[in-house]
Amino acid sequence: MSKSRNILITGGAGFIGSHVVRLFVNKYPKDHIYNLDALTYAGNLENLKDIEDAKNYTFLKADICNREQIKILFEKHQFDSVIHLAAESHVDRSITNPFAFVETNVMGTLNLLHAAHHLWKNSDKNHLFYHISTDEVYGTLGSTGLFTEETAYDPNSPYSASKASSDHFVRAFGETYGLPYVISNCSNNYGPNQFPEKLIPLFINNIINNKPLPVYGDGNYTRDWLFVIDHADAIDLIFNKGNLGETYNIGGFNEWKNIDLVKVLCQQMDSKLGRKQGESENLITFVKDRPGHDLRYAIDASKINKNLGWKPSVTFEEGLSQTIDWYLNNENWLKNVTSGDYQKYYDEQYK
Ligand code: NAD
Ligand code: TYD
Repeated sequence: MSKSRNILITGGAGFIGSHVVRLFVNKYPKDHIYNLDALTYAGNLENLKDIEDAKNYTFLKADICNREQIKILFEKHQFDSVIHLAAESHVDRSITNPFAFVETNVMGTLNLLHAAHHLWKNSDKNHLFYHISTDEVYGTLGSTGLFTEETAYDPNSPYSASKASSDHFVRAFGETYGLPYVISNCSNNYGPNQFPEKLIPLFINNIINNKPLPVYGDGNYTRDWLFVIDHADAIDLIFNKGNLGETYNIGGFNEWKNIDLVKVLCQQMDSKLGRKQGESENLITFVKDRPGHDLRYAIDASKINKNLGWKPSVTFEEGLSQTIDWYLNNENWLKNVTSGDYQKYYDEQYK
């Protein structure tokens, strides 16, 4: 029988992190899951109401930028492994304030690597530092081709530059200090609990409220969309079965031009809200483009598929329908996160 593990998940109150925490708490009752999160605007413990009283779960309010606090927590709780998701995650915010991205994504990751190395360097147990990253580190594709694990890093936004830097630091700790690590780079996620600053939840919220749908540029930018539950399953697989020192690309085999995706979203929303078909599409408004906007992301996920047997389980239409239903059934969640500072952010971003 395998020994119980102390697993640290950072950023577990955020969108993807909350799904990973729930999966691990429910699937591994013998392990102890620590969720470390600073509860920034993007972190929300409402996301974890259903598991907050579980015996194998502990929430730690802490900032990964605080090196001393992180070191103390590693020593106190003796984490065996880390799944690192905490980050500043929104490209538009990184254009307005790149410094916060370097502080959290680069320095915060370095603090965790330092604490893990310090705690594990003389240990004979199995350890793992699993770093969650993005396909945006590869930069942009033209109209053809796919990102593979061998694609050279070529980040274009302050967000992707900070994530690329953090990936490099993880590898550097592996090479230099022998830290056991694995990295995955995933495409755009969507699903329940995503903060309504990203395309899909922002547009769902605006459709509900009959507000304009601000499509950047001509809307011909392409993203590869993956349902968040499928990402959480891939993370579980890589955490338990991935090869040390390797990278895995995770994607949805599901490319959409923004404008086409928005039209499908509008059609589904009209049906669910009992509106006339075409009503929500009338809200589409083309607005000023994002500076340095990457044209296309698309992932070749054949390595994780062949080596670990992973593939997405949900079609885009099903995942989108489940996502819309979740937002329609969780109006209070949406109201809570869009009160306060959200309106200020929205007015600044879309003025
Ligand atoms: P999110 O913004 O929803 O959540 C981030 C979480 O990190 C929040 O709970 C926040 O409170 C926490 N956090 C931020 N700064 C912190 C700090 N200094 N100390 C401790 N906690 C802090 O992000 P997400 O979309 O869930 O993304 C999670 C991870 O997955 C990120 O590393 C992101 O780069 C990566 N990723 C996201 C996507 C996507 O489509 N959302 C795709 C690929 C990879
Ligand atoms: P986003 O959800 O911010 O993810 P990322 O920039 O990490 O891919 O944006 C997805 C796509 O949607 C991207 O091409 C930018 C575009 N977009 C809009 O057209 N309007 C918006 O209001 C937002 C937030 C995004």
